[in-house]
Amino acid sequence: MKNILVTGGAGFIGSNFIHYMLENTDHFIVNLDSLTYAGNLENLADVSDNKNYLFVKGDIRDKELVDKVFGNYSIDTVVNFAAESHVDRSIVEPEIFLTTNVIGTQTLLNAAKKNWNLRGDDKYSREYKQGVKYIQVSTDEVYGALGKEGMFTETTPLSPNSPYSVSKASADMLVKSYNTTFGLPCVITRCSNNYGPFQFPEKLIPLMINNCMNNKSLPVYGDGMQIRDWLHVKDHCSAIAAVLEKGRIGEVYNIGGNNEKANIEIVRLIIRKIGRSDNLITYVKDRPGHDRRYAIDNTKITSELGWSPSYTFEQGIAETIDWYLSHREWMDKIISGEYLSYYDKMYNT
Ligand code: NAD
Ligand code: DAU
Repeated sequence: MKNILVTGGAGFIGSNFIHYMLENTDHFIVNLDSLTYAGNLENLADVSDNKNYLFVKGDIRDKELVDKVFGNYSIDTVVNFAAESHVDRSIVEPEIFLTTNVIGTQTLLNAAKKNWNLRGDDKYSREYKQGVKYIQVSTDEVYGALGKEGMFTETTPLSPNSPYSVSKASADMLVKSYNTTFGLPCVITRCSNNYGPFQFPEKLIPLMINNCMNNKSLPVYGDGMQIRDWLHVKDHCSAIAAVLEKGRIGEVYNIGGNNEKANIEIVRLIIRKIGRSDNLITYVKDRPGHDRRYAIDNTKITSELGWSPSYTFEQGIAETIDWYLSHREWMDKIISGEYLSYYDKMYNT
């Protein structure tokens, strides 16, 4: 049994990952989350009493707290989801992306290095306890944008374009440096766009579903022909679980399910499923520096770790739309708060 520190576990992917782990393993999970606008404990209400789960409210940049969590719960595994994750927000307010995504990662790496070192806090020792592992949950956006052809492999050079993706690429480089310099047992995962339950409605799919439900216009950036490679969040979680169990130290694993779709295709599909009209589509000013296309080559994780996605896009998106339609209370609570002023600033100015 492992003692896993999941950071950012109250967010979209982190909360799905905690559900996945509690359903499929006996590991003990400590969820460290500072509950920013994107953190929502309602995502985990059904597991709050689970004996294998504990929530700690706190910031990954808080050195003392992170150190205490490692010690108090004998943490042997870290899965770092905690991040500022929205590209549009990073264009408006980049600084917090650097402090959380870069400095926060460094704080976690330092705590792991100190607490897992067999010789205590010896700066130069590269000897670690058996069975410890640090997993950095990164993104395909660190590779930049693709043209019409090609896919991202693990050896594609990093070429991030937004403050968000630069912060994630910087964190990846730090993780690599802790592995190379100090021998810390680290693995990096880089996944494509996720969709599924509990996603904050600032992101394309839940935003369009919510606007459709409320008969509001659907803001499509630029010509809507940008391509993303979609993966159901549960498949992302099973991939991380495979990396946790079998991923080789010092390696990067791309995660994706070969589902390239243009944004406008997704928007039209949501309109059809919810029974609205294409007249709701409004083409708006493009995102500055908008990456045109992402596509993941998943050969390494499928062939080396035996992972494969379980959802087809058609099944996954249909279930996802149904989930949001049947969880209107969850959505209504979110959109009545800070979201209103965010939406106004982002789309009505
Ligand atoms: P999210 O924005 O839904 O959740 C982020 C969580 O981190 C929230 O619960 C928030 O409260 C918490 N958090 C933020 N700053 C924190 C801090 N300083 N200390 C502690 N907790 C903090 O994000 P998500 O979409 O679930 O993404 C999770 C991770 O996966 C991120 O690292 C992101 O870069 C990566 N990722 C996301 C996608 C995607 O499609 N959403 C794809 C690939 C990789
Ligand atoms: O590729 C992985 C990344 O996917 C993750 O690292 C990020 O955390 C996650 O936010 C996501 O980034 P994107 O920028 O691709 O996701 P987003 O949902 O913001 O946008 C998806 C596409 O839809 C993108 O081309 C922009 C477009 N879009 C988005 C919104 C919110 C619109 O056209 N209109 C919108 O209102």
